[in-house]
Amino acid sequence: MSSNKPLNGIKIIDFTHVQAGPACTQMLAWFGADVIKVERPGSGDVTRTQLRDIPDVDALYFTMLNSNKRSLTLDTKQPEGKVVLEKLIRGSDVLVENFGPGALDRMGFTWERIQELNPRMIVASVKGFSDGHHYDDLKVYENVAQCAGGAASTTGFWDGPPTVSAAALGDSNTGMHLAIGILTAIIGRQQTGKGQRVACAMQDAVLNLCRVKMRDQLRLDRLGYLEEYPQYPHGTFSDVVPRGGNAGGGGQPGWVLKCKGWETDPNAYIYFTVQGHAWAPICDAIGKPEWKTDPDYMTAKARQPHITQIFATIEDWLADKTKFEAVDILRKFDIPCSPVLTMKELLHDESLRKSGSIVEVKGHKERGSYFTVGSPIKFSDLKPEITPSPLLGEHSEEVLAELGYSKEQIANLREAKAV
Ligand code: COA
Repeated sequence: MSSNKPLNGIKIIDFTHVQAGPACTQMLAWFGADVIKVERPGSGDVTRTQLRDIPDVDALYFTMLNSNKRSLTLDTKQPEGKVVLEKLIRGSDVLVENFGPGALDRMGFTWERIQELNPRMIVASVKGFSDGHHYDDLKVYENVAQCAGGAASTTGFWDGPPTVSAAALGDSNTGMHLAIGILTAIIGRQQTGKGQRVACAMQDAVLNLCRVKMRDQLRLDRLGYLEEYPQYPHGTFSDVVPRGGNAGGGGQPGWVLKCKGWETDPNAYIYFTVQGHAWAPICDAIGKPEWKTDPDYMTAKARQPHITQIFATIEDWLADKTKFEAVDILRKFDIPCSPVLTMKELLHDESLRKSGSIVEVKGHKERGSYFTVGSPIKFSDLKPEITPSPLLGEHSEEVLAELGYSKEQIANLREAKAV
C-alpha cells in the first residue's frame, strides 16, 4: 500500500447510518480520513442486524459500508454523551449525518451551536428532500428517492409500471455527491478558515443522474416526439418522457440482445449499441456488408424505422454464440458492447480482483474474511487498503482516551450508559 493517503489528518465524526451516509464516509476513510462512527450504545447502526447471513455477526450490509472506520458508542441524548460529542466536535474537521429531518437539532446540535464549538467545522447532511422543499419533513429510503427523482418514471418498459433500478441511485449515489461537497468545503476552508454546511438531498442526487431524461422532456415539449425512443416512429408519445426499455439514453440506439442459451439462462444477453461510427464494422461483423451502402440502412435516421428488425437480425447472428464469445468477436471490430454480467460473475472476475474493485477483506473479528466492493476510483499514488468494519463500540475506549478521558471517567460513562 502507498503511504500517501491524501486525507490523513482529516477527522470525521460519522453520525451516519444505513447506506447513504456510510457510503460517503467509507470512501473518505479509504482515502485516509480518520472516521469515527458514532452509534447508539447497545444497538448501533441498524444495518448491523439487517439481513444477517451468520447469526449474531454483523451483517454484510454493515461490513460492506463501514470498512476502515472506528466505532464509538455514545448516547448523544444524555448529558454525559453530549459533553463527549462537544469535545469531539471541538477537535474534528467534519461531521456527517443522515438522520431524519431535524434530529440533529433536537439533539441540541444546531448549526449555530456547532459553529460556536468549532467555527472550522464542516457539517454535511443527507436528507430525502432539500431544505424548504414541500416534502422536507419526509423520511426517505432508496426507492422513495428513485421515485421522487425521476428515475422510476423513466425506467422499465412502456407497457409496465414505473420501475426502480437495482443500483443505489438514492443512497450510495447521494453519498458520493456528498463526498464531493465535503472535499470542496475542505478546500474552501483552506481559503476562508471557516467551515460551512453541505447538504445533498437524495431527490436531487437522483435527478442529477437523470439529467438526460430532463433533456428529453425539454425536447419532447418542443418537438412532440423523441426519435431515439422505441416509440418512434410507429408508436405514440404523450406529453411526458416515456419509459424506453433498454434503448440507449445518450441517443445511440441500443438494446439487450439474446445470445446462445437465453432460453434457460436469464442473463445470456449482451448489450449492443448501434453507434453511428460503428455501423460499417457492425455490418462486416454480422455478415451484412451490403447494409453499408443500402440507403435504407446507411444513416441513423434511415435505420430508425426498422431498428427492431436490425436487432432481430443481430440476434439471429448471436444465436450460436455465448455472450462472451459474441463480445470477443465484436471487440475486434471496435463495436461498443458488453456481456450482461451477473453478481456471481462480477464477484469472481479476475480483472476486478486484480484492480482492487472487488476485494477480500481479512481479519474481521467475528466474520473472519469477507468480500466487498473496493474503490472504483484509482490513483497513481494511492492504493486504498480496505480494513474490516469495526465491531460496535470497538474503539470507544481508544477514542475517549484520545479526548482526555481517564480510565475511571470512562468507567463512569459506561455506568451512566452514555457509551
Ligand atoms: N444517541 C442518541 N440518539 C440517537 C443516536 C445516538 N447515538 N443516533 C440516533 N439517535 C436518534 C436520533 O436523534 C433520532 O431521535 P429523534 O427522532 O427522537 O429526535 C432517532 O435516533 C431516530 O433517528 P432517524 O434518523 O430519524 O432514524 P429512523 O430509523 O427513524 O429513520 C431514515 C431512518 C433513514 C428514514 C432517516 O434517518 C432519514 O430519512 N434519513 C435521511 C435520508 C437518508 O439518509 N435516507 C437513506 C438512508 S440509506
